[in-house]
Amino acid sequence: MKAILVLALCVGSFAVSAAENVRLSSLDLTKMRQGWGKPQIDRSIREQPLSIGGRRFDHGVGTHAKSALWIDLAGGSERFTAFVGVDDAAGSPKASVAFKIVADGRTLWRSGPVKLGQPPIPVDIDLRGVRTLILLVGDTGDGIEFDHADWADAAFVVNGPAPKTIDPPREEPIILTPPPAPRPRINGPRVFGVRPGSPFLFKIPATGERPIRFAVAGLPKGLKLDPLTGIITGSISKPGTYVVTLRATNLHGTASRKFRIVCGDKLALTPPMGWNHWYTHYDRVTDKLVREAADAMVKSGMADVGYQYVSIDDCWMNAPKHKDPMRVGPLRDPQGNIIPNRHFPDMKALTGYIHAKGLKAGIYTSPGPFTCGGFAGAYQHEAQDARQFAEWGFDLLKYDWCSYGEIAKNDPDPELVKLKKPYILMANLLKQQPRDIVLNLCQYGMGNVWEWGAEVGGHSWRTAGDLGFELDRIFEVALKNAEHRQWSKPGSWNDPDYIQIGKIGDARGMGEPIDCPLSPNEQYAFMSLWCLMAAPLFFSGDMGALDPFTLNVLCNPEVIEIDQDPLGQCARVIHKDEDTFVMVKDMEDGSHAVGLFNRGEAPATVTVRWSDLGLKPNLYVRDVWRQKDLGKFKSSFTAEVPRHGTVLLRAGQKKYKPQ
Ligand code: GLA
Repeated sequence: MKAILVLALCVGSFAVSAAENVRLSSLDLTKMRQGWGKPQIDRSIREQPLSIGGRRFDHGVGTHAKSALWIDLAGGSERFTAFVGVDDAAGSPKASVAFKIVADGRTLWRSGPVKLGQPPIPVDIDLRGVRTLILLVGDTGDGIEFDHADWADAAFVVNGPAPKTIDPPREEPIILTPPPAPRPRINGPRVFGVRPGSPFLFKIPATGERPIRFAVAGLPKGLKLDPLTGIITGSISKPGTYVVTLRATNLHGTASRKFRIVCGDKLALTPPMGWNHWYTHYDRVTDKLVREAADAMVKSGMADVGYQYVSIDDCWMNAPKHKDPMRVGPLRDPQGNIIPNRHFPDMKALTGYIHAKGLKAGIYTSPGPFTCGGFAGAYQHEAQDARQFAEWGFDLLKYDWCSYGEIAKNDPDPELVKLKKPYILMANLLKQQPRDIVLNLCQYGMGNVWEWGAEVGGHSWRTAGDLGFELDRIFEVALKNAEHRQWSKPGSWNDPDYIQIGKIGDARGMGEPIDCPLSPNEQYAFMSLWCLMAAPLFFSGDMGALDPFTLNVLCNPEVIEIDQDPLGQCARVIHKDEDTFVMVKDMEDGSHAVGLFNRGEAPATVTVRWSDLGLKPNLYVRDVWRQKDLGKFKSSFTAEVPRHGTVLLRAGQKKYKPQ
């Protein structure tokens, strides 16, 4: 007896004495990634007792699809037992999930689709010899809404090292894209909309060794170019389409490309690109930080690939109450004019600073009396505020919804009329201003905003709530947005929220920026999805902490070219299996951007047949992230796609030629 005890002690600190039960809920669940909320110990995601098909359980883990938990068993566990199902608190027939258990890369067990009300499904699997286990909950393909999933009574029979939750294997942040060539390359949009008489401002985005000398052939009357900076200013009085030729020359050669200036009533003919302060500075934003962001946009090279707007989000106004006394003060002056808080001493000077760099300035407000952050909103001062934004020199307005719900509640009009009302009002007011102001609607997709966002005068509209870093969120949002692809066109864009990479806040807690929690492959997938969707490209990380990897993800001109394509198409989706899918977007030059995506926990081989994508055979294929031609492929292309990652291609009858 004594000898056995000694032996057990010697196995090491991780050892557990013979055949012990270790509850899943006793492990460190902070490693669990899921699609919504936080994993719960011995209760459901709704923080209520675990209950499946009417049966209560005292122990277990409540989670939400999609969910993944990696566990290092180190060969020490013999069995895993549990009861799984949809938690009764889900309360909607839409609740449906699928459980899966993967051991050392092999699927050991699947539940198949499980719906709300179904009795608990018993799990009893042999784990002898298994090193790494992954517990997964999928969404059965209908989105993750209401998908509350329970691993009830879940426990390991352990006879060796104790199970330990772990992070998925760490990925090195590999820079896939070669640095820009010394020779000039003109980037960014190929088409640009402006209204007659409005101030025109466009900086020709170009990479290549400086100094570069710019020239434009065929500039319409009223516009002039600064050949040293590539900034075009002035205004056009006569409506029409002007096709000009942009040129950029340095010691290594000349780049040229056609550029269409469309003087009419349409703005944002390609998805707006820029930076927004929200996910980094939240309610800490200041004039100084915004100026520094503008400096960094130029210095980092972001402006050379097409980033243009420097946008202030919420919290530039005064609030009745705030922890920072500099943000508390009168909301408006006696004439009703909005008063910026003391961190913004001179808005006009700020936009002037931004404009002098050839960049544009964005601002934010809400149609309610208060913004989401509790600062002064535009309610009953809409005309005054629209005029003020124009006078200050802003070029974009993000118009939220916060606190307008209270106003709408007392409005007897039908729901849809109420949803449209504040946006119609603001869009019309902006149109009356003597400068072009792009309007971004931010009401999280209510009333299928994509169906009417353009009709009420918006140029882009958020299609969902704030994005967050939840597991699978980027894929889920992209697939959802692709369902609204018919509404994506020049001047009208579905907005899936900002590019949240680099040093960035936690999306909801308004904390100080930390390193992006997404893996490098997730970040490549993020940017690829946004470009395939033709989404507005607004980076929202810290412009003062741009690292080479983040810049590489943000600034590959061939990736951006997919986003900025003048046709404005959102890619269509072809599902391959539960983990992989393909997106294909037709480009103006007759080629196709093709994204292979893998949402699974292991690398996956994805084959695309040109016929499945509706494409003709014999296509040249280029790897867009690596900017590398891969050859000519007769009827299909196969690639290994990393976990949560992408392979982004350009396929065409002709070999890809930059410019
Ligand atoms: C909402 C929006 C965010 C941000 C905040 C500001 O949550 O969705 O993008 O503008 O308000 O308070």
